[in-house]
Amino acid sequence: MKIVLLGPPGSGKGTQANIICEKYNLPHVSTGDIFRYNISNNTTLGKKVKSYIDAGSLVPDEVTIEIVKDRLNNADCKKGFVLDGFPRNLPQAKALDEFASIDKAIMIDLADDEIIRRLSGRRMCKKCGNPTHIDWLVDGKCEKCGGEVTTREDDREEVVRARLEKQKLPQDVIDYYVKKGIFAKVKATDTKEKTFEKVNEILKKIKSN
Ligand code: AP5
Ligand code: MG
Repeated sequence: MKIVLLGPPGSGKGTQANIICEKYNLPHVSTGDIFRYNISNNTTLGKKVKSYIDAGSLVPDEVTIEIVKDRLNNADCKKGFVLDGFPRNLPQAKALDEFASIDKAIMIDLADDEIIRRLSGRRMCKKCGNPTHIDWLVDGKCEKCGGEVTTREDDREEVVRARLEKQKLPQDVIDYYVKKGIFAKVKATDTKEKTFEKVNEILKKIKSN
């Protein structure tokens, strides 16, 4: 199963990707996670992308596309993957088609005011990578694995607003997948479990095809 999760910043792509990957035993490929890993390890790639991420802007396509192409070339992605946060524009969507055959592009959608509420309370688990929320922590630790949590640099309010402004999912990306007959949209207003039930209805149809 080769799945793309689209959607605005903070709509719940990472949360749904984690649940899908656990249930279907698929690798989770998140461009944001790859960039953050490289920034925290001060790699050449990390140095190249840091200023874009700090400003809430997109990393240039030529950098991002190569990263995804490389990652999807790994053996663990041969049978399937969940691609979280890529593509974000039409050139990326077209480039992806040159090296992968996507079964479904699912947009995880949420209104801006709820996104701001969720991101202002987001915490990332340092141990299992779970994007969690201050409301869900148990004794200040990740509710899933008990790991220490941290905040993301780009969750500062001014960066969140910049991300929302600069990173709206362009309509031409949606049109592109609609035209291919593989687009689906799920409103993420419910709990993560209920949202996953809706996502899973879509996934089950792919499995049975
Ligand atoms: P990336 O890491 O992908 O950030 P993003 O798109 O802004 O998305 P987020 O990870 O912030 O949110 P999410 O949708 O995963 O939501 P989450 O599940 O965490 O990218 C970071 C940066 O890298 C970008 O700004 C850009 O600079 C660069 N980049 C990445 N990809 C790129 C590309 N393709 N091209 C160019 N540049 C790129 O959930 C959010 C919060 O809500 C959490 O606290 C979570 O616990 C909570 N939550 C989730 N679901 C629910 C629910 N149902 N109910 C209540 N709370 C919920
Ligand atoms: Mg994410």
